[in-house]
Amino acid sequence: MIGPVGYWKKLQQYQFNVLKANGLKPEHALLDLGCGPLQGGIAFIRYLDVSRYTGVDIIPANVDAACQQIVLHRLGTKNPRIIHSGHFGEETLGEASFDFIFASQILYILDEKTVSEMLAVVGRRLRPGGKFLGDIVNPEKHATVSALYAAYFPHSMELIQRLAQAHGLQVRSLGEILQYHYPAKLTLRQSLMLEFTRIS
Ligand SMILES: C[S@@+](CC[C@H](N)C(=O)[O-])C[C@H]1O[C@@H](n2cnc3c(N)ncnc32)[C@H](O)[C@@H]1O
Repeated sequence: MIGPVGYWKKLQQYQFNVLKANGLKPEHALLDLGCGPLQGGIAFIRYLDVSRYTGVDIIPANVDAACQQIVLHRLGTKNPRIIHSGHFGEETLGEASFDFIFASQILYILDEKTVSEMLAVVGRRLRPGGKFLGDIVNPEKHATVSALYAAYFPHSMELIQRLAQAHGLQVRSLGEILQYHYPAKLTLRQSLMLEFTRIS
């Protein structure tokens, strides 16, 4: 599994809080980029109507674990879609578009080129009025977090803004993820949640 040991339920609830507080409704279509073994995904699938959840991950073992979680939690009848892809699902998603796109705890492990590729996908697939939510490490806390990751990219707000604009998106910070009850003992608690919307 993924994430700090002993925090699975709390981190699942945190992810659910983020989307719920920002307006996710059962009828919405959700794309979960870097879904991993469905820490948040299981809560989303439970909440959403049938066929509204799509998760994408680049690592086959995480995709397998995601599929196993769906079976374990008896959520097959919700018809979630899990995609293995190195291009954020582009080769599989056809004309699909989404009300919400989520990228939890992934933007800071992607280099600039890959973040740009992700934002291009978001720019194409986010419905008018939809939201893309993703967290970055608080620029003032880089020193603490860099000890956690071998490859870690402390993207600045300025860089994210520039990349977003290039794909027709505007971005603003919603503040620290602690507000969504991210566990207060974990190092990433001061990360910032960003909201991307279409430039109107
Ligand atoms: C720290 S985990 C977060 C998992 C999940 N979003 C969560 O918050 O519980 C990062 C995930 O992103 C996935 N990932 C990394 N690079 C990716 C890429 N280029 N495309 C899709 N998934 C990627 C990893 O395989 C991993 O499952």
